[in-house]
Amino acid sequence: MSKMQGKTVVITGATKGIGKATAEKFAQNGVNVAFTYNSNKEAADAIAKEFEEKYSIKAKAYPLDILDTDQFKPLFEAIDQDFDRVDFYVNNAMIYGRSVVGGYGKFMKLRPKRGLANIYTATVGAFVAGSQEAAKRMEKVGGGAIVTISSTGNRIYIENYAGHGTNKAAVEAMMRYAAVELGEIGIRVNAVSGGPIETDALRAFTNYEEVKAETVKRSALNRMGTPDDLAGSVYFLCTEDASWVTGHTLIVDGGTTFR
Ligand SMILES: NC(=O)c1ccc[n+]([C@@H]2O[C@H](COP(=O)([O-])OP(=O)(O)OC[C@H]3O[C@@H](n4cnc5c(N)ncnc54)[C@H](OP(=O)(O)O)[C@@H]3O)[C@@H](O)[C@H]2O)c1
Repeated sequence: MSKMQGKTVVITGATKGIGKATAEKFAQNGVNVAFTYNSNKEAADAIAKEFEEKYSIKAKAYPLDILDTDQFKPLFEAIDQDFDRVDFYVNNAMIYGRSVVGGYGKFMKLRPKRGLANIYTATVGAFVAGSQEAAKRMEKVGGGAIVTISSTGNRIYIENYAGHGTNKAAVEAMMRYAAVELGEIGIRVNAVSGGPIETDALRAFTNYEEVKAETVKRSALNRMGTPDDLAGSVYFLCTEDASWVTGHTLIVDGGTTFR
């Protein structure tokens, strides 16, 4: 039996994209999956059912709005009712649409009290609130691992990405602080920073086609990233194979950042 079997991961925003691929990676390896949805309850319930049937693990979906960080406490209390332990936490969900107006755009259009503040709450706030709840449970089982999803848009210029890029830089810094303070209770904390990945969130970019073409051109591998490309790295960081890795950002970008 693998050391991962029978453990539990909590993942935010796993109805599609990177969250869903990550949830499936854990499920394939015998890890029980508690995950959240925001607007797609039907898709989430179908995913839970599919994973349970395919991988013989326990999977359940819970509602969450990362713009209201007070929801993390009741979320984890609900998870406590259904799962006997929490070993891993993946801070993945991200907002888009109306709530990022004033946050997704050119520098001169940024609105600190509106979209920009929302992106901070959804990125750093959600990481802090979710990790705090997860860490309390991990401590009870002797440790665990936390991974936040970041983006290479905090290192290289991506048009309209100032709001997201700066908050991804902030969540990476917060991750390092958490790593130092949670290390003493056996919790490792890391980030996976992805280059452009083919998902709905990227398709929502106003210059999506341009970003896609540029990514393929810049990538040493001559292609876009896929959700599975990130999922394996998130999973690795939660395994014993990464037992000496903490406070680290693993860049998974198909070689796009250097070029
Ligand atoms: N795509 C990229 O190029 C890329 C690159 C690097 C990093 N990332 C990062 O990877 C993560 C996942 O992105 P993705 O591209 O996989 O996105 P995605 O496919 O659009 O999925 C977004 C997820 O977030 C959930 N969500 C949306 N609004 C929410 C809210 N207010 N509260 C809670 N959950 C909410 C969605 O749930 P519902 O479907 O139920 O609404 C969905 O499960 C994000 O942190 C993103 O910044 C993405």
